[in-house]
Amino acid sequence: MQPQEGLFHSPGAFSGMAVLRLGRTTARSELREVLSSLHAELSPVQGLHTVLGLEPALLPDAPAPAAPLLPREGPTARFPSSQSQVLVQVSASQREPLLWALRRTLALSKGVLVLEEEVLGGRIGQGRDAFGFRDGLLHPTREQVRRAALVSTGPLAGASWLLYLRFQQDLERFGRLKPLAQERVVGRTREGEPMHDLPEEAHILRARASGAGENALIIRRGFPFRHLGEEGLAFIAASADPGYYARSLDTLLGNQGGPPDALLRYATAVGGGLYLAPPRDWFQSTSLLEKSA
Ligand code: HEM
Repeated sequence: MQPQEGLFHSPGAFSGMAVLRLGRTTARSELREVLSSLHAELSPVQGLHTVLGLEPALLPDAPAPAAPLLPREGPTARFPSSQSQVLVQVSASQREPLLWALRRTLALSKGVLVLEEEVLGGRIGQGRDAFGFRDGLLHPTREQVRRAALVSTGPLAGASWLLYLRFQQDLERFGRLKPLAQERVVGRTREGEPMHDLPEEAHILRARASGAGENALIIRRGFPFRHLGEEGLAFIAASADPGYYARSLDTLLGNQGGPPDALLRYATAVGGGLYLAPPRDWFQSTSLLEKSA
């Protein structure tokens, strides 16, 4: 099974995502038609990278989770759920194709899906997060994406589990910290250099303690945004196994023995969901959504 090509491309200078909810009276056949035409129109466009994700329960072969991933809570922070049915992530090096893709997403889904959330931003590799820190330092190779982000066998082979979390970052509060204290929260210098003698709660150490460092278990594909005075990170990740998300989120929350991630004092998750990005051929196949119809 061929994975969606967009999974191999980290977000570009212009990035966006849309979350869409099924209309109350929508039939599964209408949804299937919309998804197929979205995929057929957006994915072949040169210079545009698209990933389409669906609520896992909509896909016939997706295993039902023992417990929902979101919402998730720790002693000091919470990751809420704003789970919906369709997630579209698009990115490009130019603004025009990105806007075109978002316009087409709305036009093609009209009457079937309702836009619930839209976030526009861009550039993380060689760019900075909203706190001014270098981010996207470890650019994943195709092989790393294949290993960490793609289901390798079974009926879901070629699919990828997507985690979306929208974080608001409190620039004022973070800005009141001295520069060194800021770096000890993140666990790297502003320029992305490694640091020594970090507190256990530093973001990098928490992320690594979960086993997710070095593109090992999850591939990060989020991007920073600014909207109506709010700045933050549209955290999107791709993984072969949703269990890794549970482990990473619990480590950040402080549910795995270590302290909660210091970054969560300055960044609040305000929404999120788990989606499954099916392989390419699913969009042409009539079995997409079939068993749940
Ligand atoms: C607002 C929220 C967040 C911000 C501002 C943020 C920021 C950063 C920064 C600046 C870095 C260092 C640069 C880099 O390695 O590319 C980093 C690394 C990382 N973050 Fe986050 N992050 C956030 C949320 C998360 C979440 C929710 C997860 C996991 C579920 C996560 C997992 C990681 C991992 C795995 C690394 C790489 C660690 C390594 O390999 O050294 N981050 N993050």
